[in-house]
Amino acid sequence: MRTEGDTWDIVSSVGATALGVAAARAMETEEPDALVRDDYAALFVTASRHEGMNRLLDDPSVRDGSMLSSGMIGLRTKFYDDHFLAAAADGVRQAVILAAGLDARAYRLPWPAGTVVFELDQPKVLEFKRQVLADNDAVPAADRREIPVDLRDDWPAALLDAGFDPSAPTAWTAEGLLPYLPGAAQNALFERVERLSAPGSRLALDALSSSLDLDKMIDFEDEYMKNSPMSGIDLRGLFYTDDRAEPEAWFAAHGWTATPVTVSELAVRYDRELPKLPEQFEAMFQGSRFVTVANPRTAPSA
Ligand SMILES: C[S@@+](CC[C@H](N)C(=O)[O-])C[C@H]1O[C@@H](n2cnc3c(N)ncnc32)[C@H](O)[C@@H]1O
Repeated sequence: MRTEGDTWDIVSSVGATALGVAAARAMETEEPDALVRDDYAALFVTASRHEGMNRLLDDPSVRDGSMLSSGMIGLRTKFYDDHFLAAAADGVRQAVILAAGLDARAYRLPWPAGTVVFELDQPKVLEFKRQVLADNDAVPAADRREIPVDLRDDWPAALLDAGFDPSAPTAWTAEGLLPYLPGAAQNALFERVERLSAPGSRLALDALSSSLDLDKMIDFEDEYMKNSPMSGIDLRGLFYTDDRAEPEAWFAAHGWTATPVTVSELAVRYDRELPKLPEQFEAMFQGSRFVTVANPRTAPSA
């Protein structure tokens, strides 16, 4: 169960979910028709010595092989990659990755010269990441800055101290973050993003279906994704399920435009076939979506 101010490292509590996502990215990277390549992901999993996830990486025969395991993360990773690349093409040179986990975009995306990438996450998660990247002589492709914080707290001061420029447009992401925040902290996060966003800024996030039944989702994982990287993680104890604003509605009320895309639409966009799911799960998945919200004011040209 979550408590106010709880903390974690990369193999415990919410931290393990970042490792699970990295394992899924490593598996997707091995696919012949991989949507994304993340060669750093396997390095993190190996260094963590997490038994179950390393077994999946070492022995492809024990993977469940379903599109829902690594393929879903492939779609998600590509969606966020495209978000940053589109912003860069529009002249945005400042990126903020909220809940960066083991996201290696600062290393693997072709950032234009002069781009600064800020990564926010819990201190021990960033510490693990830094150590693994240093051990592997990884060199970032942008000016990467770490901000160790709790995203339930007032983090903007730390971001500003690290050189964030609130007068420049920003590409933000909150990938795989919102269910781990209480509803009030989600609102506070949105308010802070809005306050720090100069004209031309945009944020990409993912939101679960508001009708999500967590118990059903866990049953689904037990049945369909037995040998997926996330299968050993009890999301019931990690998600906050209190009432919260729909992100699209929150940002629309603040004058931003919201563009949601469902998982199925994303699969069509990236030419991937999603498996047919039982009816009760289909509805649950359809309600979950990826959303881009944009500050409507004109962005400065590149
Ligand atoms: C599912 S992982 C996603 C990581 C990364 N965005 C990705 O997609 O690979 C969730 C991440 O959110 C971070 N996180 C959740 N709640 C947080 C909080 N209150 N403060 C800082 N980080 C948090 C975790 O540490 C973890 O890295």
